[in-house]
Amino acid sequence: MMKAIVYTEYGPPEVLQLKEVETPAPGDKEVLIRIRAISVNVGDVWARNFKAISPRKFSMPLPLWLPVRMMFGFSNPKINILGSEFAGDVEAVGRDVRHFRAGDPVFGYRGPNMGANAEYLCMSADGLVAIKPASMSYEQAATVPYGALTALSLLRKVNLQPGQKVLINGASGAIGSAAVQLAKYFGVDVTGVCSTPGLETVKALGADRVIDYTREDFTRNGETYDLIFDIMGRSSFSRCKGSLRPDGRYLLASFKTHHLFQMLWTSLTGGRKVVCALSSERPQDLVFIRELAEAGKIKSIVDRRYPLEQAAEAHRYFESGDKKGKVILTVGL
Ligand SMILES: NC(=O)c1ccc[n+]([C@@H]2O[C@H](COP(=O)([O-])OP(=O)(O)OC[C@H]3O[C@@H](n4cnc5c(N)ncnc54)[C@H](OP(=O)(O)O)[C@@H]3O)[C@@H](O)[C@H]2O)c1
Repeated sequence: MMKAIVYTEYGPPEVLQLKEVETPAPGDKEVLIRIRAISVNVGDVWARNFKAISPRKFSMPLPLWLPVRMMFGFSNPKINILGSEFAGDVEAVGRDVRHFRAGDPVFGYRGPNMGANAEYLCMSADGLVAIKPASMSYEQAATVPYGALTALSLLRKVNLQPGQKVLINGASGAIGSAAVQLAKYFGVDVTGVCSTPGLETVKALGADRVIDYTREDFTRNGETYDLIFDIMGRSSFSRCKGSLRPDGRYLLASFKTHHLFQMLWTSLTGGRKVVCALSSERPQDLVFIRELAEAGKIKSIVDRRYPLEQAAEAHRYFESGDKKGKVILTVGL
């Protein structure tokens, strides 16, 4: 048996309960991972209370709301253990696994399958799991895969060129903080936008300048960009048009149906374009991200750590709006 944070009903952080559950056993092509650290992400918080995500609040096109709600469970959650990105050690491998051995330190991403808020986790050895960056602690490494894989996949859609100018709206979050660092790696000038608590973090991650959206509207300062990457879709194409250079692109991580029409329309006309895309993460990208982390190009700024048992407290802090970096759950560290 193992300890895990289990939830059987949607609701506030208190629905997260410490329980003893069966330790999973690896299949022939799987690895059993002893989890050391897990990030808390917005996906965990939304999945914990999916019932409260109305079609209006849903961050993706409306037709996806019902299938996603069904996937997570309509009235009660189907997946009972949250946690999508993690770092830990391989405890055991299935008999067909060749590229991992017991004792390997690893980090990885589970996407919507979740399940990492536990002492152990089984996953396919060919999935999004790779040797952990040697330069990072388990806690730091656990903050990297989701944001970096998603940002890398989405930034690939716009083919950034060195010397270009980019604005990232939502630069202090998981995807945005990775996007700031990847954009700097690609040689572009980066402006990061977030609220006051995250400004120092975004600067420390390498942004050339930061804008506090609670004090300044970036669409009104006269600056223009080759790319505006809006993570949460809190701006609008019509407002951002004047801040985009003639061939500029407006990239959305979170988009609604009308953005898809804008994408279609702008693809048929010249000039500024709207780009909406779903990320497609690949195991080899995680290896690339590890190399970037080892080269010091991707950093992790951990704000608070909580032992696994205090998952509810960690969710509460994540939702408070005060966080300045990543929020981590630790297991036996
Ligand atoms: N396209 C895809 O394949 C894909 C994949 C995964 C996730 N997503 C989408 O990505 C989003 C989650 O991103 P994440 O994990 O990076 O979220 P996150 O960690 O919660 O970060 C959200 C960021 O947005 C900022 N923000 C909040 N309100 C804002 C506003 N009014 N103006 C400007 N910035 C604002 C936050 O800054 P403050 O904290 O300072 O307010 C923070 O920097 C979700 O909508 C999800 O659906 C898309």
